[in-house]
Amino acid sequence: MIPFDNASAPAAATPASAGPPDIRISSIQSTRMPLLLVGDDCTIRDWRRDDKPSLLHHANNHAVWRNLTHLFPHPYTDADAERWFDFLAQQDEVTHWAIEVDDQAVGGIGMIRGEGIYHLSAEVGYWLGEDYWGRGIATAALRALVPELLRRYRLIRLEANVFAWNTASMRVLEKCGFVREAILRSAAVKDGHITDLHVYAMLAQHAAPSPVKS
Ligand SMILES: CC(C)(COP(=O)(O)OP(=O)(O)OC[C@H]1O[C@@H](n2cnc3c(N)ncnc32)[C@H](O)[C@@H]1OP(=O)(O)O)[C@@H](O)C(=O)NCCC(=O)NCCS
Repeated sequence: MIPFDNASAPAAATPASAGPPDIRISSIQSTRMPLLLVGDDCTIRDWRRDDKPSLLHHANNHAVWRNLTHLFPHPYTDADAERWFDFLAQQDEVTHWAIEVDDQAVGGIGMIRGEGIYHLSAEVGYWLGEDYWGRGIATAALRALVPELLRRYRLIRLEANVFAWNTASMRVLEKCGFVREAILRSAAVKDGHITDLHVYAMLAQHAAPSPVKS
């Protein structure tokens, strides 16, 4: 991967209208380097094995699971958490991070990079423990992470696929500048329901300037 030295990157201006949170970056030097984005609403950081109790507490929730793909287990067991940490440990490039609020990991955010002809695109995903919904946290997290993903991985396109019923997630994406490009009819089956998939995307050339301050 192309190393990235944030210290030498120009700090982009924050658009007044977007109202992003105050986010500072501590270290991004390569795709295996720790990520730390500290904001007023939440911190985005690497997962740690000692997050397991809070991961289990927040992830083992039907209301969370029903909005995510089949890759997210339910019930979310201790073994699932261990598998998650093992998966993260063997990643060549770090692509998933914890969302920390109140000094605990209360959710996750990350991306799956495309392969082959799709290697400059990635699908983003995020989830938050139900206790923390409705406070603007997912919006703050995604808004902070998007410019970093685009820059760190030299991506040109970020995409998100949302089940038809998940209006909260659609709002998050829209507030972060994603555009709904398509509705894939009856494209997924979740929780016993056939559902449309709403495809949202953000192109690097349309991304808001980074809210990150060096
Ligand atoms: C989707 C999710 C991440 C949103 O997190 P959040 O921190 O509560 O989101 P925010 O508070 O930043 O923003 C939510 C927005 O949706 C709106 N919203 C919430 N529920 C809504 C509903 N039922 N209908 C319409 N809008 C709704 C909120 O009002 C807010 O918009 P606003 O700021 O314009 O008022 C969270 O609900 C979650 O983790 N759900 C389960 C997993 C999931 O859905 N992940 C995304 C998969 S695509």
